[in-house]
Amino acid sequence: MNKQAKLAFIGCGGFSTSCLYPTLQNIPEIDLVAVCDLKEELAKRNARNFGARSWYTDVEKMLATEKLDGIVVVGLPQMHYQMGKRCLDAGLPIYVEKPSANTYAEALDLAEYAQKKGLFGMVGHMKRHSTCYRMAKTIMDKKEFGGINEIEVRFANGRYPDLKKFGWGLDKGPAHAFLIGQAVHIFDLIRFFCGDVAEIYSIFREVETTDDGGIFGFAVTVQFKSGAIGLVNVNAFHCPRFQMSEYFEAAGYECCLEVRDMMELNYHARQKPLPEFETAGRAQIFSWKPEFTEVGASTAGGIIGYKGEMRHFARSVLGLEKPSADLFDGAKAVQIAEAIWDSSQSGKVVKLGEKKA
Ligand SMILES: NC(=O)c1ccc[n+]([C@@H]2O[C@H](COP(=O)([O-])OP(=O)(O)OC[C@H]3O[C@@H](n4cnc5c(N)ncnc54)[C@H](O)[C@@H]3O)[C@@H](O)[C@H]2O)c1
Repeated sequence: MNKQAKLAFIGCGGFSTSCLYPTLQNIPEIDLVAVCDLKEELAKRNARNFGARSWYTDVEKMLATEKLDGIVVVGLPQMHYQMGKRCLDAGLPIYVEKPSANTYAEALDLAEYAQKKGLFGMVGHMKRHSTCYRMAKTIMDKKEFGGINEIEVRFANGRYPDLKKFGWGLDKGPAHAFLIGQAVHIFDLIRFFCGDVAEIYSIFREVETTDDGGIFGFAVTVQFKSGAIGLVNVNAFHCPRFQMSEYFEAAGYECCLEVRDMMELNYHARQKPLPEFETAGRAQIFSWKPEFTEVGASTAGGIIGYKGEMRHFARSVLGLEKPSADLFDGAKAVQIAEAIWDSSQSGKVVKLGEKKA
């Protein structure tokens, strides 16, 4: 390994410590220089556990002291937006977790801020970097797939909390918070495969909202600018709290592909099998599942994309790759979330412009 990106982390909280920091030891392109958290015990702990040479409780002190190539910011969306700008001011490319801000207007502002400074930012839409979805993209980009004509996606979370109670700047209740704080992953995913969205129509069912969160769902039709059409079902009906389930299907030209829970891919190719095998007249099916030890190591390994996105950020910092999802992608995912909410409330189709009117 010739060159490493000198990175620092701001935020030593629950998610980053369980899912992002553990990937770093397996990424040769990363030199973890420093970590920072307002809580000294967390900063010390993560420096010790993940091999950072220094720890800080004050971002300004860290920026003034350390020679860095890039910075990772993980916490509340307000922190991504404000601290993201501060790090850009220091001349550093940023990685921020999703969502990059609580609103499309702020997320877009952050993206434009970076652009004006000639810097880039990445947003933690790790599904783009997961093994299954990368395989799916490789297959769907092939000429034989014939382009994407239709997609169908279901993402289900258990009962979803009111994120305002956890300090997020969202005040429209659990269903709206779910779109911005969680289902935004799926909205990035559909753009990853199908490109920009032209318009959205959404209907909404809410079963209950208690102090403990809400049970609800959105059924959404999507028209992409490419002409592709989509059905998106994001809900908190399917499973108990803290569980998730995910299904993605895309139809090409006389063929289709499905991904279940980021762990299983089935490609029903167009070509017929060789005549001697053509007993059922079925198309050829290519299937992939991770080997079971890979699943066991999935957080620190590559399967669900956390390692991939961290490595991709480092390689983007080193100029070896082009950042994906970038800050504009992150903003557009929030824009889709807002459009789904607006349509569900107004009963009208929402057209997505480049900027909010
Ligand atoms: N990609 C995924 O699969 C996934 C899953 C869960 C959560 N997330 C995202 O992760 C984020 C939450 O991350 P978390 O659980 O690590 O957050 P957290 O709230 O547990 O931790 C944030 C940390 O930042 C510190 N902090 C706040 N302001 C600071 C400042 N000015 N300077 C230094 N430190 C400061 C806090 O003390 C805290 O320890 C959310 O944006 C959420 O959407 C992503």
